[in-house]
Amino acid sequence: MNDSLSRETLDELAQKLVQADRVGVLTGAGVSRESGVPTFREADGLWNRFRPEELANVNAFISNPERVWEWYQWRRDLIGKVEPNPGHYALAEMEQLLEQFTLVTQNVDNLHRHAGSDRVIELHGNIMRNKCHNCGVIVETEIEFAEGELPKCEACGGMIRPDVVWFGEMLPADAIEQAWNEARQCDVFFSVGTSAIVYPAAQLPFEAKAAGAYLVEVNPQKTDLTRLADLYIGTPSGEAMPKVVDALKRALEK
Ligand code: APR
Repeated sequence: MNDSLSRETLDELAQKLVQADRVGVLTGAGVSRESGVPTFREADGLWNRFRPEELANVNAFISNPERVWEWYQWRRDLIGKVEPNPGHYALAEMEQLLEQFTLVTQNVDNLHRHAGSDRVIELHGNIMRNKCHNCGVIVETEIEFAEGELPKCEACGGMIRPDVVWFGEMLPADAIEQAWNEARQCDVFFSVGTSAIVYPAAQLPFEAKAAGAYLVEVNPQKTDLTRLADLYIGTPSGEAMPKVVDALKRALEK
């Protein structure tokens, strides 16, 4: 048993959660790994099969929108077939158990919402949504992409694209403001399933720690954040987070 998951450690963490006014979490692709969604930078990661420059950026979309649409349809099909895992459900349960709980995610796979999380700040957008590349209007209706028929915006005729943040693009200002504001007020902050190397999202745990939060990192691999964490849990989130919730329930019953 990983000693960072001992009953004693978990009960101590649970006490901090019960005493906390505000708790925050930043998640990355690692949270969805146990659902079968590849991460970005591991051996079998998405970026090892594709080059981000070729697909997840505006120039790629402008120069070859069909290829970008095909890649996102492939990812949507993949994500449409997977279910949230116990890590997602545990985070959704934490939102129910704790007064002030904020979940910030870098993931675009919609699995936190699918698992029941309601207050989700999506820093990188949501792959299940589309928007107009020109006027920015959100297109909630499902779009069937057919070869050679690029979907166009009804409002302005611009090209429709996935509502995700691409390399080189700004993150949604409202999401950034909300996430940073919350992180700076947290008493306990979790970084779960992220390599913590892609900014500005990766800055969030550092911001929380600098503002005085007790920092917990959940990741089987150590990252640049690990040396700063007050508690490092080197266990997959699908195993670790349900144990954190069980300890929290025990503490709340006392
Ligand atoms: N539980 C917890 N963490 C895990 C698990 C798991 N079961 N499996 C893998 N991990 C960890 C890996 O060790 C790695 O540190 O998840 C992390 C995934 O890191 P990345 O693949 O870099 O994904 P992420 O941190 O989300 O990337 C951030 O980069 O390319 C952009 O927009 C993309 O949102 C993404 C951002």
